[in-house]
Amino acid sequence: MGRSGVGVVALFTLSLLFVSYEVVDSAIGVNWGTLSFHKMRPSTVVDLLKANKITKVKLFDTNPDALRALMGTGIQVMVGIPNEMLSSFNSDLFVQQNLSRFIGKNGADIRYVAVGNEPFLTGYGGQFQNYVVPAMVNLQQSLVKANLANYVKLVVPCNADAYEANVPSQGTFRPELTQIMTQLVSFLNSNGSPFVVNIYPFLSLYGNSDFPQDYAFFEGSSHPVPDGPNTYYNAFDGNFDTLVAALTKLGYGQMPIVIGEIGWPTDGAVGANLTAARVFNQGLISHVLSNKGTPLRPGSPPADVYLFGLLDEGAKSTLPGNFERHWGIFSFDGQAKYRLNLGLGNRGLKNAKDVAYLPSRWCVAHPSRDMTLVGDHLRLACSEADCTTLNDGGSCSQLGEKDNISYAFNSYYQMQMQNEKSCDFDGLGMVTFLDPSVGDCRFLVGVTDKGLSSSAEPMTRWSVYHICIGVLIWTLTM
Ligand SMILES: *[C@@H]1O[C@H](CO)[C@@H](O)[C@H](O)[C@H]1NC(C)=O
Ligand SMILES: *[C@@H]1O[C@H](CO)[C@@H](O)[C@H](O)[C@H]1NC(C)=O
Ligand SMILES: *[C@@H]1O[C@H](CO)[C@@H](O)[C@H](O)[C@H]1NC(C)=O
Repeated sequence: MGRSGVGVVALFTLSLLFVSYEVVDSAIGVNWGTLSFHKMRPSTVVDLLKANKITKVKLFDTNPDALRALMGTGIQVMVGIPNEMLSSFNSDLFVQQNLSRFIGKNGADIRYVAVGNEPFLTGYGGQFQNYVVPAMVNLQQSLVKANLANYVKLVVPCNADAYEANVPSQGTFRPELTQIMTQLVSFLNSNGSPFVVNIYPFLSLYGNSDFPQDYAFFEGSSHPVPDGPNTYYNAFDGNFDTLVAALTKLGYGQMPIVIGEIGWPTDGAVGANLTAARVFNQGLISHVLSNKGTPLRPGSPPADVYLFGLLDEGAKSTLPGNFERHWGIFSFDGQAKYRLNLGLGNRGLKNAKDVAYLPSRWCVAHPSRDMTLVGDHLRLACSEADCTTLNDGGSCSQLGEKDNISYAFNSYYQMQMQNEKSCDFDGLGMVTFLDPSVGDCRFLVGVTDKGLSSSAEPMTRWSVYHICIGVLIWTLTM
């Protein structure tokens, strides 16, 4: 599409943007991460979003398959630029190849580009921080050239470790970030962009045995935090207002705030379980939709809240902990893990439909073989596939030794798309057609995102068959 074409679309959609800003308050969206060995087809995921009336989604890149599946759906999209790309970033090329061609009439409704993902995280030791503002400035110019600047906003999702304080009202950005943050928020402000922050009360609880457990949730706390005239009853409000105070110190106390990631994992750690995740997420949603706001922003909740995450991602790094692969409100295959009212019109979550599963078969430890020498196989299986639920606090941590081996074998076999050789393990493995799942411990069957849906092929044959019959009848009646 030529520039003027985009311009017309941008103008048109811009007017839509203003209208929708007046009507819509806070909205609940989701993060769609794709670090999984078992990715569903993008169209299946988009159908899942639609079935759950989710109208805002945040991606971590500009994956063309995801963006194509989102085209024409009206779902608003935040795309991302990975940190590693910032140092050699070509903004014109990015706009041309990764944005413009998806935007337009019946295109993907890309509203935000996240420049980096938590680029100021303490753990990165500053390696990305100097690239962020220059990349934003260049990208903004490229957006202007492409006539997209009024429509697509640039943001930088920050981890909550960008600011600190003993009590919320004392919030300041980390001293070494003062200069960058000053530039960043001034840039955001002049372009009408919100400040995007990721807040994780679970991690506060996980990393700190003194952290009062009920303060992580939304049902009142036996350890409220007094702060001058205000009292904080939950970690979310306290964290949010710490950011408000830090922004106020830079002169931008009114800047809109969007929660880029927030959630609770269901497996892989003590305290990561279905009940806690449901209570946290439901409490968060009710809190945000009540429009109560926080002590420093009464009646003014965050503009948008993106839950983390939509799906479990079994291929994520376990460096932060085994829970890292279990943040989904849905399992990897789009099945709801617990009851949750997203406040978007449905009372509960709706499962994904038409998931393209591999055949119903599993790889298990051969019942009559001696497993003494299984060690190396286990290490290989679990270093490549996901075995996180086997560990302490995990949903499969109660398995016996042989079931443990079966679980690891199966994980690997499914990850290898049920390749027959991948269940060999020097004769110690065996394929079975009986589901070996035990209680809450689910032995998965993989899914595929490849090719036609499983029902498409028989359907094609079916219609060929119909045509043949038709021709036959026609020939017979001639
Ligand atoms: C566009 O996105 C792809 C990933 O889908 C990435 O590999 C590529 O580097 C991006 N192009 C530019 C110019 O940033
Ligand atoms: C679930 O996690 C919560 C806190 O995160 C904890 O209090 C509770 O005991 C856990 N429940 C189970 C059954 O482990
Ligand atoms: C099962 O595997 C996990 C993870 O490797 C291990 O921590 C646990 O001790 C094993 N359990 C048994 C009964 O072997």
